Amino acid sequence: MTGARIDTSRLQNMARAYTETAVLWAAIDLGLFTAVADGAGDEAAVSEAIGVSVLDAERLVVCCLTLDLLRQVDGRLTNAPDVQRYLVAGEPRYAGAWMMFTRRDVPEWFRIAELMNGDGEPTLLGMYDGLTVDAARKYHRATYSVGMGAGRRFVREVDLGGRTKMLDIGGGSGAYSINVVQAHSEMTAVVFDLPPVAEVATEFLEQNGVDDRVVAFGGDFTADPFPDDCDVAVMASNLPIYDAGVIGSVVAKTHEALLPGGEMHLIGEMLDDDRSGPADAAMWGMNELMYGGQGRAHTIAECIGYFQAAGFSDIAVDEFIPGVLKRVSGVKHS
Ligand SMILES: C[S@@+](CC[C@H](N)C(=O)[O-])C[C@H]1O[C@@H](n2cnc3c(N)ncnc32)[C@H](O)[C@@H]1O
Repeated sequence: MTGARIDTSRLQNMARAYTETAVLWAAIDLGLFTAVADGAGDEAAVSEAIGVSVLDAERLVVCCLTLDLLRQVDGRLTNAPDVQRYLVAGEPRYAGAWMMFTRRDVPEWFRIAELMNGDGEPTLLGMYDGLTVDAARKYHRATYSVGMGAGRRFVREVDLGGRTKMLDIGGGSGAYSINVVQAHSEMTAVVFDLPPVAEVATEFLEQNGVDDRVVAFGGDFTADPFPDDCDVAVMASNLPIYDAGVIGSVVAKTHEALLPGGEMHLIGEMLDDDRSGPADAAMWGMNELMYGGQGRAHTIAECIGYFQAAGFSDIAVDEFIPGVLKRVSGVKHS
């Protein structure tokens, strides 16, 4: 029997994977992709446009070519399609803020062993303990830049025909609610999030002209009751922030609060049941270590279990953003 040859290359690549993050952030910091979109087609032009030496421009460009962030087409530099759409400043779908979202966590990620050997007890709210309005505004400038895309996808993929009111649990900027009421003129929504976030959500709702149909309510979903007049609930992108006890009880509380026949959607990074991937779901669970929270990665089977225990029927699992987010849904008996 012959197996694949074992060597160090996979481990070496992993040991230096931080270099990819660093190059991506440097390119964004320096405005490389915006310069290329504006016509800087070679290293000399890049050097001029972003204000670095020709040698450094070459270093950066070469790194970006090898990472397929830049491409050489007919002798000129161009952005890869995703870079062109999401990393050119001033473009409507610019998502630079999201790409920088976890940058402040970097020093702690390189202290995992020390943090695990420390003696602090994890707290329930983790990073959200003592959140200020200013910090919430900065945080949600980043989530909004990707949340609007996710909200658009939710509206495309979920049939909300006949529904009247959505509860957006941990709704952040309100991106899902904004898209839902824009697509369904008969619907209203409530963004339920921590009080500082509810203030910031109101700004996004006003900016999108939907503050007459979406309200932001300040509350803690681990402790406070939910409104009981909704027939749809969505809980998106806060799964790994909490442990099984909290997520299970929020799903149960949602079931209790929904109108008969109502539906819930839990959208998040979920592990495959054999826990062989995706790594990103596991890493979001690890992220909670940096903030002293109790969160962890949940498997798809665990999420289905929260819905079953709560009493939901018609439980289904869908790929939401392939390789990144799954969607588990269920219906409350009429
Ligand atoms: C990553 S954001 C996701 C925001 C939004 N759902 C989206 O997908 O764009 C997680 C949100 O959960 C909220 N959150 C976390 N813990 C909460 C709690 N105990 N009660 C209410 N909201 C909470 C945070 O304030 C934050 O707005």
